[in-house]
Amino acid sequence: MNNFTFCTPTEFVFGKGVETEVGKIVCRYGGTKVLLLYGGGSVLRSGLLARVEQALSAENIEFVHLGGVEPNPVDKKVYEGIDIVRSENVDFILPVGGGSVIDTAKAIAAGACYDGDFWDFFVGVAPVREALPVGVVLTIPAAGSEGSGNTVITKLDGLHKLSLRTDKVLRPRFAVMNPELTFTLPPYQTACGIADMMVHVMERYFTNTLHVEITDRICEGVLKAIITEAPKVMSNPCDYEARANIMWCGTMAHNGLCGVGREEDWASHFMEHEVSALYGVTHGAGLSAIVPAWLTWMVSHHADRVVQLAIRVFDVEEKDTPEATALEGISRLKSFWRSLGLPLNLHELGVENPDIDLLVDKLHENKGEFVGRYVCLNREQSREIFELAR
Ligand code: NZQ
Ligand code: ZN
Repeated sequence: MNNFTFCTPTEFVFGKGVETEVGKIVCRYGGTKVLLLYGGGSVLRSGLLARVEQALSAENIEFVHLGGVEPNPVDKKVYEGIDIVRSENVDFILPVGGGSVIDTAKAIAAGACYDGDFWDFFVGVAPVREALPVGVVLTIPAAGSEGSGNTVITKLDGLHKLSLRTDKVLRPRFAVMNPELTFTLPPYQTACGIADMMVHVMERYFTNTLHVEITDRICEGVLKAIITEAPKVMSNPCDYEARANIMWCGTMAHNGLCGVGREEDWASHFMEHEVSALYGVTHGAGLSAIVPAWLTWMVSHHADRVVQLAIRVFDVEEKDTPEATALEGISRLKSFWRSLGLPLNLHELGVENPDIDLLVDKLHENKGEFVGRYVCLNREQSREIFELAR
């Protein structure tokens, strides 16, 4: 086991009706003037935004709005938010939505405390030293941004989708999580969220650090819980218990617990970020298109952990060869994702003619000569995986 520090300062307030407490919670964290951030309108249609406004007003907390954050959020909205924060003297950012809204909030929170261009953080020119406090009202279990120190933003100029990872500074102060708020999710978004959280676990499961049984078992437990609960939310979107389990799985998958004590991979995510940057697809669906190819490639290059995943998570009985066991595991993962209505390759994702040269170029331009840790992929190898994903 590698040395580690693990600090998750986020307060999770979870359960029915908890969004009505948000005013009191913002107060506790010292917020007096809030930037209310949201997406394309789901929170208006559901009445959630009005309830949040009411909760803030009840505590005499002022607020200003910034709506219209789009999935795969872009830098333009971040600049807009930074301007509002400065001109309105905002001291607290409250995203109401999913990963796109939360990530935009984090970038605004850091950018508003920095004299230079916030993009400097994403390209490694400057570290994030401070940020305004961010609290979250979560509406979709998927990206896990409510419990992570990460934010992912696309720079429109050149379509560079980059992630910024901080250990502590950008973790939300709190996350208000009412599973009932997820009842309105369209089935496709629910399924994409499920794929995303599964891959967050898998990126950490694929490691070369041996003898971290505790972290392995946590990963396997979260994956098994998702596999059990996912069909329930798909068949009955208003099944509170199943929605609650899936929502908490999404947080556990990405708050760092599943990676404690060892190195992590993340190649599939970096490859997907190029796909969603170029083709505007939903991140979770991009992952369900890329990951089967990544796993299949691994079977002939470094099969150990694919075999373990197959046996321990997908209950595959050991076959004559490790490769056969691994392939059966991949087949079961694909059947599971297929049953949720997810695409399993780029063609099914709607990307008929992927520009593989461009995907490879951008991947290595953004992430360096080698991508991933389980196997450090060079250009030729990442190209082979993109080709397999066609
Ligand atoms: O915009 P609105 O109208 O709110 O609709 C959203 C959006 O269209 C809709 N939605 C959300 N909650 C809903 C709802 N519709 C009905 N009822 C509800 N309760 O869902 C759509 C997707 O929302 P989005 O915020 O984009 O989803 P998600 O949470 O999957 O976030 C995706 C983004 O997060 C990044 C992804 O790359 C992508 O940009 N990621 C962020 C990570 C992080 N910060 O740690 C890690 C992830 O790996 C990921 O890369
Ligand atoms: Zn993800």
